[in-house]
Amino acid sequence: MPTTLITGGTVVNATGRGAADVLIDGEKIVAILDPGSTLLGHDLKASVDRVVDAAGKYVIPGGIDAHTHMEMPFGGTFASDTFETGTTAAAWGGTTSIIDFVVQYAGENPLDQYALWHQKAAGSCAIDYGFHQILSDVQDSSLDAMDELVAEGVSSFKLFQAYKGVFLSDDGQILRAMQKAADNGALIMMHAENGSWIDTVVQQLVAQGKTDPYYHGISRPWQAEEEATHRAIMLAQYTGAPLYVVHVSAKQAVAQIATARDNGQNVFGETCPQYLYLTLEDQLGAPGFEGAKWVCSTPLRSKAEHHQEHMWQALRTNDLQVVSTDHCPFCMKGQKELGIGDFSKIPNGIGSVEHRVDLLYQGVVTGQITLERWVELIAVTPARMFGLYGRKGVLAPGADADVVVYDPNGHTSIGVGKTHHMNMDYSAWEGYEIDGHVDTVISRGSVIVDDGQFLGTAGHGKFLKRDLSQYLV
Ligand code: URP
Ligand code: ZN
Ligand code: ZN
Repeated sequence: MPTTLITGGTVVNATGRGAADVLIDGEKIVAILDPGSTLLGHDLKASVDRVVDAAGKYVIPGGIDAHTHMEMPFGGTFASDTFETGTTAAAWGGTTSIIDFVVQYAGENPLDQYALWHQKAAGSCAIDYGFHQILSDVQDSSLDAMDELVAEGVSSFKLFQAYKGVFLSDDGQILRAMQKAADNGALIMMHAENGSWIDTVVQQLVAQGKTDPYYHGISRPWQAEEEATHRAIMLAQYTGAPLYVVHVSAKQAVAQIATARDNGQNVFGETCPQYLYLTLEDQLGAPGFEGAKWVCSTPLRSKAEHHQEHMWQALRTNDLQVVSTDHCPFCMKGQKELGIGDFSKIPNGIGSVEHRVDLLYQGVVTGQITLERWVELIAVTPARMFGLYGRKGVLAPGADADVVVYDPNGHTSIGVGKTHHMNMDYSAWEGYEIDGHVDTVISRGSVIVDDGQFLGTAGHGKFLKRDLSQYLV
């Protein structure tokens, strides 16, 4: 494979930034050099196969989106991005690794499902991919499967406190899975919403004729998120399991996570771009059926209650550690439309895999997070959290050459027909005008996006066998 030199840029890692050149040989970074360095008296530029000019730009580790659902069977349909379309869109947006969820519904064998997900993803992905395993009914066989999956490099398991009859595990089942995780070192990921509470409110609202998408948000109050988050933390405390709460949207849930962390528990929290920008009033409350575009769970929260500002604050203060997308796209036509006349039948999910790096960069532009914190949130911490750090999430000799050249003076217009490559007939971010631009994306030494062109291939992406979380001793 060719050698590449990225010259003239500002290299940004979690630990700092500085002018440096990045030398890539094959799939790996081999050196971070002073700008303009020579090798044995030779001009490096002249001796490499390819030079990428990064003057005036940031050179950052490729993004890691630790929460995606490609082709997920859910809500009576399938998430509209395949592994091919979804990973291609991710690459366009500066993400070079995803961690997707293998789905196990009640009665299914987790190991069979794991094999099925490998079949779906193998040969299809434009970027590297790993798996978490969803467990929806925790049986003795599921506990055995957890050991086998950890040995396979699937070191994290998602459980649900909501979606009765679909994904929900009761507290006893959660307890048993957590006991296993405390024993084998796996990380428990939690969809923290009180499902029984929500199901009852949904029935009441629909019976009252309150069927518009807006009521999806009303049916899933912050109290139901806070309560479930607290309960998950207590179960984790009792069992000694590490806990990672996914798609946190309520400021009260953040407070629960922060308290647990202050008490010394291994509890972590993730939020998503939709909870930083989009609101119950403006998006879910859009006229007619329009709000269906933004139906996801946990739901968008009230602007009047200032949850969005709190999410930014928590990212700055490290009360939350990761930003993933929870990419679970559905088209309006034939998919979201399933819920016309009944919001509870709208497939839950938003597609953002292409925009996470850009959307988070706006926090740097507005002074809410530093450049280093941006890199930490989109790449470094996801790598550490999910056992990839060293290989991924860092620009250093020996790491995979997953590199993004980001132009802070560039501009990105988001929307269908603009920078949108996701398999969706709308954009949750239509009309967003963003400072900054992903110029060049390198995945394991191969340039897969450059100068407005996709140069990658489906099948380039390799399965990531992950270690245990590097946040746990
Ligand atoms: O609405 C969402 N979040 N859909 C994807 C499934 C999940 O709960 O993460
Ligand atoms: Zn979830
Ligand atoms: Zn999800």
